[in-house]
Amino acid sequence: MTETLTTWGGWEPAVRDDPFGHFAQARARCPVQKVHLADGHPAWVVLGYDAARQALHDPRISKDMLAALQDNGDVVAEGLPGPEFSRHMLNVDPPDHTRLRRLVSRAFVPPRIAALEPAIRSIASGLLDKLDAAGPGAIVDLVEEYAYPLPFQVIGELLGIPAADRPRLHAWFQVLLTGWAGDPPPEAVAASDGIVAYLGELVDAKRQSPADDLVSVLVAAEDDALTTQELLSSLFQLVVAGHDTTASLIGNGVVALLDHPGQLEALLADPGQLPAAIDELTRFTAPVPHATFRVTAEPVTLGGVEIPAHEQVLVCLGSANRDPGRFPSPDVLDIGRSDGPNLGFGHGIHYCLGAPLARLEARVAFEALLCRHPGLRLAVDRDALTWAHGDGLVLRGLVSLPVVLGPRRPRK
Ligand code: HEM
Repeated sequence: MTETLTTWGGWEPAVRDDPFGHFAQARARCPVQKVHLADGHPAWVVLGYDAARQALHDPRISKDMLAALQDNGDVVAEGLPGPEFSRHMLNVDPPDHTRLRRLVSRAFVPPRIAALEPAIRSIASGLLDKLDAAGPGAIVDLVEEYAYPLPFQVIGELLGIPAADRPRLHAWFQVLLTGWAGDPPPEAVAASDGIVAYLGELVDAKRQSPADDLVSVLVAAEDDALTTQELLSSLFQLVVAGHDTTASLIGNGVVALLDHPGQLEALLADPGQLPAAIDELTRFTAPVPHATFRVTAEPVTLGGVEIPAHEQVLVCLGSANRDPGRFPSPDVLDIGRSDGPNLGFGHGIHYCLGAPLARLEARVAFEALLCRHPGLRLAVDRDALTWAHGDGLVLRGLVSLPVVLGPRRPRK
């Protein structure tokens, strides 16, 4: 008898835009289940909170998809820019993971992150000044003009990418992260080639004249502690992980607050609640709805279901974070929640290295925006908003967010 499996990913627009009902139905059927991915490959999707948490820290579930690719034809194809740019911490297991994460962690120690706050404030305020220049009644795209450029500028600062180079690099990444079905279109190949060439030149420039930035830190460790392939892969991963995710949290978060005016009011009345609100918005809006792919190195039982060895595992963070067994009234946005941590930034050894930076960026972004424009409103029907990101698995961000900012609150 042939097994009939649910297809996971590549959803119709209504599910892609609001996948939480779909996740809940699947989770109620079974918290761990075998599915077909949109490309036809089989995988196991983990939907329940406890099983998801276990999957994220179980050492029998590997992140080394490249090794799995060599052993098993049944895994996802490598995307652009190809396997030579995939040798970073998120794609390896210890001891390589420990080594690569330790090197990059130097740039993420709390004093370094805290020291970025004034720069982030100035970036946020500069972007808002530009939007204000359009006038209080103008329609502006908050995703294009605020949510994306802010974290891209910040990751540029952290890595030491010259400001003049950031717009073209950002444009290439936007093309690459749009996603596509089947073979990559020519513009994606061109964007990928542009990024590969640019990162190579950047590394060469830092070898000649090192500065106080993360690229220089990694260049100094090249050969002794990491290979050139690992260096370039790490830079690529940091740019991707460092901006699209945070941009999605800012955009999704603004929509969630506009959908819940009572919560927005509470936040405006007491901006001290922002750190807690950001964690709740991460849980509720799932900017990263699934963790990246994993593969079982040996048979593993998750949530009472045995997954054989060499099978792909996809942890659905967006579902785990709405598991009613873990979060009472999970479909309610409540910035005052005291349920403890959610899995929005992952768990275990691959827990998001950039989480403190992302939280800081989001806090500054919301504070700057809402303090200046408390009357901000959508400029289109709520139903007209669309979320799109390739197969909808790893990133969940708005295509655009047209808003009217309204009058600027007078400065005190
Ligand atoms: C709202 C923003 C963000 C969210 C929701 C987020 C989420 C995540 C998640 C879920 C993981 C784990 C993936 C897995 O286990 O498969 C992860 C890993 C990672 N993130 Fe983030 N991230 C965000 C922002 C950032 C930023 C700003 C940076 C860096 C500047 C960053 C750097 C990383 C790195 C380096 C890893 C890999 C860690 C490892 O493999 O040890 N992230 N992130």
